[in-house]
Amino acid sequence: MMAGALDGTVALVTGASSGIGAATATGLADAGATVALVARRRQRMDAIVETIRARGGSASAFEADITDRSQAEQAVERAVAEHGRLDILVNNAGTMLVGPVADADDAEWQRMLDINVSGLLHVTRAAVPHLGRAASSAPRRVADIVNISSTAGRVARPNYAVYSLTKFGVNAFSESLRQELQPQRVRVGIVEPGAVDTELISHVRTGIREAIETQLATIERLAPEDIADAVTWMTTRPPRVAVNELLVRAGAQTW
Ligand SMILES: NC(=O)c1ccc[n+]([C@@H]2O[C@H](COP(=O)([O-])OP(=O)(O)OC[C@H]3O[C@@H](n4cnc5c(N)ncnc54)[C@H](OP(=O)(O)O)[C@@H]3O)[C@@H](O)[C@H]2O)c1
Repeated sequence: MMAGALDGTVALVTGASSGIGAATATGLADAGATVALVARRRQRMDAIVETIRARGGSASAFEADITDRSQAEQAVERAVAEHGRLDILVNNAGTMLVGPVADADDAEWQRMLDINVSGLLHVTRAAVPHLGRAASSAPRRVADIVNISSTAGRVARPNYAVYSLTKFGVNAFSESLRQELQPQRVRVGIVEPGAVDTELISHVRTGIREAIETQLATIERLAPEDIADAVTWMTTRPPRVAVNELLVRAGAQTW
């Protein structure tokens, strides 16, 4: 880890109350960034902020449901007002409510579209002007958007149709945005995690969840910190380097 590589920068991480987002907030703070945590569960974020501060880092929490456009925009604006700038946005908040299409629950589909797609769009649009300003000033003269996609954004499998739809969509959006923002030196990259040991599966409905747990019991899953390392590595590259895509599977993962 390059301690100090992000000194003087400000990062905003969505879905920072658990799992990959919590580990990424901590990892970016360890590298020197002041981190704004965004999610709905205030107490969980407060505990992570305390941990970051105890490690000598700087962080604060902003409660928001990013599916609500005004809450998403306000979270970005409040973070910039409090910390003065925005150099790095990590769009990590997401949900995976998988199952067969034939007996799917409309509400689950809508939830994935709202969080994985609309929430990401709301936060990104609010952040872009701030990222553009940060990219033209010290300390780095570059800014970053990292979107947390999935192996399901590269490979479609049965039962993952709508989750894959959202993550393939995130990848397409990211590549288009990369080309749009390149002249402003705002880098756009995706990280595609494989199986990571987080709360993600706990939201899958009974019947489907047990089948996933049985499959996952056969392998050692990635730790959230493994994905945090990928995000920190991407965002600590010098301005001449743009790492646009990192696919990080668990070592024993075949899918
Ligand atoms: N775990 C895996 O195997 C895996 C693999 C590939 C990709 N991913 C992706 O990694 C990302 C993080 O997932 P995770 O595995 O770390 O799961 P997680 O522990 O369930 O984290 C999901 C995060 O999203 C936040 N979130 C959900 N709805 C939100 C909303 N409406 N507004 C704001 N925040 C919201 C949650 O916070 P609150 O509930 O407090 O709002 C939580 O912090 C997701 O995009 C997921 O698709 C995970």
